[in-house]
Amino acid sequence: MSERLTMENVRNEVVGVAEHVQLLDGTRRPYINFDNASSTPTLRRVVKRVQEFVRFYASVGRGSGYKSHVASEEFELARMTIGAFVGARPHAHAVILGKNTTEALNKLAHRFPFSPGDIVLTSLMEHHSNDLPWRQVADVRFIALRADGTLDLEDLRSKLREYAGRVKLVAVTGASNVTGVLNPLREIAALAHRAGARLAVDAAQLAPHRAVDMGDPEDPEHIDCLAYTGHKMYAPFGIGALVTLKDCLRDDGPDLVGGGTVDFVTERDVVWSGLPNREEAGTPNVVGAVAWAEAIRCLQDIGLAEIAAHESRLAACLLDALDEIPAVRVYGPSDPKTADDRLGVVTFAIDGVHHKLVSAILGYEGGIGVRSGLFCAHPYLLELLGLSEEEQSGIAMAVTRDGISALPGLTRASFGIYNDEREVALCADALKAIADRAYRGEYQQEPGSSDYAPVGFSWPKLGTDYPPQKGC
Ligand SMILES: Cc1ncc(COP(=O)(O)O)c(C=O)c1O
Repeated sequence: MSERLTMENVRNEVVGVAEHVQLLDGTRRPYINFDNASSTPTLRRVVKRVQEFVRFYASVGRGSGYKSHVASEEFELARMTIGAFVGARPHAHAVILGKNTTEALNKLAHRFPFSPGDIVLTSLMEHHSNDLPWRQVADVRFIALRADGTLDLEDLRSKLREYAGRVKLVAVTGASNVTGVLNPLREIAALAHRAGARLAVDAAQLAPHRAVDMGDPEDPEHIDCLAYTGHKMYAPFGIGALVTLKDCLRDDGPDLVGGGTVDFVTERDVVWSGLPNREEAGTPNVVGAVAWAEAIRCLQDIGLAEIAAHESRLAACLLDALDEIPAVRVYGPSDPKTADDRLGVVTFAIDGVHHKLVSAILGYEGGIGVRSGLFCAHPYLLELLGLSEEEQSGIAMAVTRDGISALPGLTRASFGIYNDEREVALCADALKAIADRAYRGEYQQEPGSSDYAPVGFSWPKLGTDYPPQKGC
């Protein structure tokens, strides 16, 4: 029996957390990963579980024999864990496993029973994965934002009134990948249901950091459909899920057809399987599902409330430190005292320093990994940056003409369960040095890209400079 995972011991359980990486000055330093909103590392327990399982890996849902039986059973157990983590009720919900959040939202868009003229209300704070799929299948209207980057519920109410009878789906994120803002899902659900619409939630950012319950389908505040993924919660093995009330999907042929989706086929007829099989074409990612279920058990072991408190504390710590640097501007809510109401995601700019230069200096001189750019949420960034329609069109023209180096952007630090205040302090010091122009390298933008790199330096290659190690 292994020791219970807690906030105190989890750091040592993260694979690669002590990995030293090469810096511009030739030294090596333990890597600080502040890009958890993109993808997290994995946990030793998850890797161990995968290693145990692969001894028994075999065909899922197709073969006979002991190993096929085990693999099929493990896949279904994992499906239950992945559904239960967000409050799925087995009689009402289907848990459809696929690659990631993006695939899950695309599936929902293409399988939701829309009719011509139906409207999807999404918001201006969405990741593209909860925006572009709806544009392909319905008329989309965007819920406006308040000046601080939070959702304008008055605008949602007003759009539900304006398009009464036509809004079939409200699709919002549970939490923003840019500002860490948490949306009031219960309130949004009640408004959507009262207007006869369903609620789909992009929980890619929410589920790893807050307890989520889709709720009883009879409760007006329930969530109808939800998408989330393993790679943002310590199981980066190519797996994601659409968890949905079964009646939110059409019951005809699925978007992807082939093996696994049918009960019977003749030259003329096809009898489609029931849910979820009908919607999971081809051989499923059973290893990913097993890994994700184990990661979920790890997070439950630690406790979602403890995780939320820890990550909010780190956000408060960074916000406090950034407040001391006059050249730094934080986007979205920035008061450290309200850090409990947000995820551990902080997005900012440093006056006069290109966002890609900020991230390059952190990486090459501090061994700190962050993300900079538009975070796959271009409309949200344009709102936060306060760019007029004219300015936005100007950027579109410049990008078409000159490529993506013309894009504006910001820099984001995002925390996970294993990050600590010492790392935040190191990052804050590095940002202060950048604001004071006290960095060493000479950087230039790489041709055809918006990224910066130090002149005459390149990262060492994996395998030669970072030899393989035993275990993990
Ligand atoms: C809010 C949000 N939605 C959707 C996605 C897309 O997730 P995935 O990479 O799992 O498709 C992301 C990824 O960063 C995200 O932050």
